[in-house]
Amino acid sequence: MHEPVILGIETSCDETAAALFRGHRLIHHITATQLVHTDYGGVVPEYASREHNKLLGPVVRGMLEQAEMTLDDIDGIAVTQGPGLAGSLLVGLSYAKGLALGMDVPLYGINHIEGHIFANFIGQKELPTPFLCLLVSGGHTQLIHVEGPQTYKLIGQTRDDAAGEAFDKVARLLGIGYPGGPLIDQLSREGNAKFHHFPRSSFPNSYDFSFSGLKTNVLQYINKQESTFIKSHLADIAASFQEAVVDVLSKQSIQAARDLGHNRIVLAGGVAANSRLRQRMIELTDEHSMKLFQPDLRFCTDNAAMIAYMGYWKAFFNNPDSLDIAAIPNLKLSFGQ
Ligand code: KG4
Ligand code: ZN
Repeated sequence: MHEPVILGIETSCDETAAALFRGHRLIHHITATQLVHTDYGGVVPEYASREHNKLLGPVVRGMLEQAEMTLDDIDGIAVTQGPGLAGSLLVGLSYAKGLALGMDVPLYGINHIEGHIFANFIGQKELPTPFLCLLVSGGHTQLIHVEGPQTYKLIGQTRDDAAGEAFDKVARLLGIGYPGGPLIDQLSREGNAKFHHFPRSSFPNSYDFSFSGLKTNVLQYINKQESTFIKSHLADIAASFQEAVVDVLSKQSIQAARDLGHNRIVLAGGVAANSRLRQRMIELTDEHSMKLFQPDLRFCTDNAAMIAYMGYWKAFFNNPDSLDIAAIPNLKLSFGQ
């Protein structure tokens, strides 16, 4: 049987990425992280789209060369349709449409969030559904009951900042730099997580989260201290903050899984790369005899392999999209009842 070769393209934020799949198997992938944003302490949308424009062609051509393949080998194109930055999405989507039209192959518009969730199973022919997913990225913090692709139920979500956003904002407060999440993770390894107890948010009869109070609390704490004290305890403060976030995320996921009768928990999104979260989730799921899935570190943050893999599933279910699909910057998962 001929297994379709799918080219995946991801340009929703500041990674310009391409991947190639044959059937459910990853052949090759490249992620070019844009460096222009570093000096600005965050992603500058206009620069991001210009960089995608510059990088996408070379990234795709380079990947094909390294895989010793040509455009003629491609049977379908999967591309991130949303959510993301409008201009950045448009670059990838227009490029994908152009290729699909020129080569007369199907186009698959992919929900980036869905990509993050199923990144756990890249290379697998079967999905171990149903499961409870803790989706933690720069824009999302949600607990989701996943029945299968496109069948979701929202269990809880943040009422203000996303977990990744909290990492990035607190990194800025501490003057650590950008991107905040990985830097706090790294610094925390040298710190004492019990140095200061930051508050943990909770809502009665709800699996919702809140992180903006915690951020304010870190700010108030910093303002009360001498700058020399902050400097000498930077790692301790970072580790204490990280512990507060991880504590809430992990305990609430376990509680929801127990209450709803799930024995599989899946981590997804950029914050799923956090070493302390991964460690706590292993400990807690072990303790409660639950099975834990954590994405390969390469596929936690934005990448095109997760997009091509969702393309594989859309091709599998023979579900192509029309060439006039639009970029949807605020695309959401659709939650049934
Ligand atoms: O999923 P992602 O790459 O992009 C979105 O779709 O949002 O997630 C990016 C977020 C950023 O907020 C970043 O700081 C956070 O994930 N992140 C981390 C780590 N690596 C990335 N947060 C904590 N620890 C990490 N190791
Ligand atoms: Zn993402």
